[in-house]
Amino acid sequence: MLSVRGLSAGYGGMMAIRSLDLDVKAGEWLALLGPVGAGKSTLLGVLAGLVPARQGEICLDGEDIRFLPPHRRLRLGVALVPEGRRLFSGMTVRENLMAGTHALADPAIRRRNLDRVCELFPVLAERTRQIAGTLSGGEQQMCAIGRALMASPRLLIIDEVTLGLAPLVVKSLFTALVGLHEQGITLLTAEQNVPLALAHADRGCVLSGGAIVMEGPAKVLRDDPDLPRHFVGY
Ligand SMILES: Nc1ncnc2c1ncn2[C@@H]1O[C@H](COP(=O)(O)OP(=O)(O)O)[C@@H](O)[C@H]1O
Ligand SMILES: [Mg+2]
Repeated sequence: MLSVRGLSAGYGGMMAIRSLDLDVKAGEWLALLGPVGAGKSTLLGVLAGLVPARQGEICLDGEDIRFLPPHRRLRLGVALVPEGRRLFSGMTVRENLMAGTHALADPAIRRRNLDRVCELFPVLAERTRQIAGTLSGGEQQMCAIGRALMASPRLLIIDEVTLGLAPLVVKSLFTALVGLHEQGITLLTAEQNVPLALAHADRGCVLSGGAIVMEGPAKVLRDDPDLPRHFVGY
């Protein structure tokens, strides 16, 4: 579905990802791993169109989307849940969710997607009128995922969904992701919790210093003795 070739991006004189190749197959769950500063958020931002690529190709179903703006990529089915959620904190849950549908013209599909999000996260259904900034961290993360789902994505890109959340909340978020994966949505998730990510994803890839240093099936990567040396405290 997604084929990245020779991708480079950076900030000023600093290159955050260097000549990177990456493939994501339709329907798979690929976990992007790596230490802080590895370039994960940069890569995900480049894929969503928020960070410009300096070089390379980003092909979605064989078509280069590198020069398309974020809203055009969203219309093609590429949605990002950014690091730190980035909700409209002064707006209600419902307004945040509806903001995710601007790429969709059909009001019937908007309503259907809202129903699906409320089914996936019943707590959001109970709180549609609540101001998003007053939700708990986990609920805000659900709202951010919900907003991305409102656009009917085929490729859902999620950056650090579990960061700073309590274990029970982390568990329920991952249960939701498993459900989305089972529905056939392709997932690309950056995750600090390596064991958790590799317990659920189909494949993993480790980014370090802006380059992919390891990749493979999650089950194989999990037991690879080389894996820990890329992480501190793993
Ligand atoms: N907006 C920015 N301006 C300048 N440097 C940045 C910016 N965002 C990230 N970086 C740098 O790019 C590198 C990769 O960061 P990032 O993509 O956020 O990594 P990760 O998500 O893996 O922690 C780091 O060295 C970071 O300091
Ligand atoms: Mg990051």
